[in-house]
Amino acid sequence: MSWFKVCRRNCISFLALQLFCLVSWCVLSDAEEQKCLDLARNATARNIRGSLQCVRGLNTRDCMDRIKNGTADAASMSADDIYAAGLCHGLELAAGESHNGVDGINYYVVVIARRSTSDLSLLEMHERSSCHPGIRTTVGWTVPIGYLVNTSQISVGEQCNFPRSVGNFFGYSCVPGVKDPQHDPRGNNPKNLCEACIGDENDRHICANNHKERHYGESGALRCVAENLGDVAFVKHTTVFDNLDGKNQESWALDLEIEDLKLLCPDGTEAGLDEYERCHLSAVPTNAVVVRVEDKCRVWKYLERLQNVFGNATEGFSLFSSAGYGESDLLFSDATHHLQRVLGSYTSWLGPTYTTMLQAFECEGKCVSVR
Ligand SMILES: *[C@@H]1O[C@H](CO)[C@@H](O)[C@H](O)[C@H]1NC(C)=O
Ligand SMILES: *[C@@H]1O[C@H](CO)[C@@H](O)[C@H](O)[C@H]1NC(C)=O
Ligand SMILES: *[C@@H]1O[C@H](CO)[C@@H](O)[C@H](O)[C@H]1NC(C)=O
Ligand SMILES: *[C@@H]1O[C@H](CO)[C@@H](O)[C@H](O)[C@H]1NC(C)=O
Repeated sequence: MSWFKVCRRNCISFLALQLFCLVSWCVLSDAEEQKCLDLARNATARNIRGSLQCVRGLNTRDCMDRIKNGTADAASMSADDIYAAGLCHGLELAAGESHNGVDGINYYVVVIARRSTSDLSLLEMHERSSCHPGIRTTVGWTVPIGYLVNTSQISVGEQCNFPRSVGNFFGYSCVPGVKDPQHDPRGNNPKNLCEACIGDENDRHICANNHKERHYGESGALRCVAENLGDVAFVKHTTVFDNLDGKNQESWALDLEIEDLKLLCPDGTEAGLDEYERCHLSAVPTNAVVVRVEDKCRVWKYLERLQNVFGNATEGFSLFSSAGYGESDLLFSDATHHLQRVLGSYTSWLGPTYTTMLQAFECEGKCVSVR
């Protein structure tokens, strides 16, 4: 493989070859740029071989274009963006985040239902009601709709109109944002995709793509099931535990008992809430560092040196903390424990299940449309 050879010329420190030692990172905000610049200066101050430059991208898409054309070398990206970077730009991964827990897994997407709802199977969801954290989110859209397409329950046909097909499939749902102009340019997305939404205390902002809609987000989707408006909620495996035991003081959450809920598994069976490792729609991988294929090794070596010095820092610059910059998850997720090398292709990082979910959206032409 070509990147294998390049690895041997990993950052040779002859003057003429200093360029091999330079990694330019594509950053997206002032706060991220500031952390990147602090890292670059600290790395130089600690005599770490190689050097870091920070270049500003307009958005994730722009960073992909820049890495492709060489005006940047690396950027950290989330699972959906890694797929687009690989599929549309032929980019690969140098390293991925490992959080506490299973290597490379960020969270599981699970399906929660009330224990009292009987005759419920994930293999027969037609006409059922559903609660989604938001339109076009990984948890609330990509994974559940990908699953329903893969199991042949939803078919989008030639029109490739996902909202219409989903609206025809479910009885009623709450998919916050589905009627926003950005996601519904022609204004004809089905109304029933907002019928399990409740808006704010004054019945305003129904189906809004923000917290004014009380069924928005993962907690909101859980609330939607707790309030009996939906048969199922698509959430993270952690969502229910984040809202129990007084962690959420809203009355719907205080009334919620773990015994009242169950997980639905993709094979049509059910399970307890703590069985998410075997009963989930998909594991969603952690963020990873996108690079050109020939840079896989070089960038990994540089990151390895950086994390050896700054990964566990108890004082001074800390690679996996964004404290002091006013935003979270800068350069890397704050939950990162360490970075691990990615030797295989980007699809190996995404995993077969998650890749299958994303492939269900192939007809949307991820590579041409402006997301
Ligand atoms: C590289 O791509 C970026 C983003 O599209 C663009 O702004 C820049 O002009 C390109 N540079 C070169 C040298 O092609
Ligand atoms: C930090 O220290 C822990 C315990 O010694 C170790 O397991 C971990 O790999 C270290 N992390 C990094 C990024 O070096
Ligand atoms: C190192 O990083 C810290 C922030 O953690 C920053 O305040 C400091 O200026 C940086 N050091 C150098 C030499 O730039
Ligand atoms: C997709 O559907 C096929 C056939 O129903 C099934 O065997 C496979 O496990 C499904 N894949 C995923 C990722 O759900």
